[in-house]
Amino acid sequence: MNQQKTANDISRRTLLQYSTALGAGMLAGSLLPEWLSAEDAERLFPTPQQTAGPFYPVPEIAKQTHNDVDLTRKFPKDEIAKGEVVQVGGQILSTTGAPLKGTIVEIWQASTAGRYNHPRDRNPVPLDNKFQFWGRMITGEDGKYAFKTIRPGEYPGRSPHIHYRVIAAGHRELFTQMYFAEFGRKNTADFIYKSLSRQGRNSVTVEFNKAADKVAAGNFDVVMDKT
Ligand SMILES: [Fe+2]
Repeated sequence: MNQQKTANDISRRTLLQYSTALGAGMLAGSLLPEWLSAEDAERLFPTPQQTAGPFYPVPEIAKQTHNDVDLTRKFPKDEIAKGEVVQVGGQILSTTGAPLKGTIVEIWQASTAGRYNHPRDRNPVPLDNKFQFWGRMITGEDGKYAFKTIRPGEYPGRSPHIHYRVIAAGHRELFTQMYFAEFGRKNTADFIYKSLSRQGRNSVTVEFNKAADKVAAGNFDVVMDKT
């Protein structure tokens, strides 16, 4: 599920319905309800804010070591952490659909066993010292980001998820979480996920597809709201 396409598709469909009903060639803007401008109808749905949770990896994530885009290991020659390697990436956009360059994208998550590398995590499962646990990058002109990581495990009370913090100039700082579409029921039972609107849930639920000989990959576009 891709939130931006969903939001866009819905608004385009709405416009299409209006213009089909009233004849082709008419200006869509003039056919919209009074309260909805054409600009707003095309506005992308902002990715919803969600709690950062108790395990944000301060101050480690700010250090210049072990925070690159490959979370599967700490150094390129190291052994890979336990679990299934996955890729997650997408584009950071404004609500007008413009790619946001120079945006800081941070992710952090549990290991395959469901444990965070954080002193407050009391989960008794062993810590996987090979796993990097967090990553950080800055987007280029195209607003794109990508991380290679390990599919996060479940831990008590939560459906598997990846935490995001996104900082873009001129936009509200975003803390959010991304969920895996395959955990449909677990997601809807998750107290944070179920607190979101339907559109909000769709916007943070990502399908991971596995092409032959490749790792499973998911696309999670993020729409930043204005300050
Ligand atoms: Fe979490």
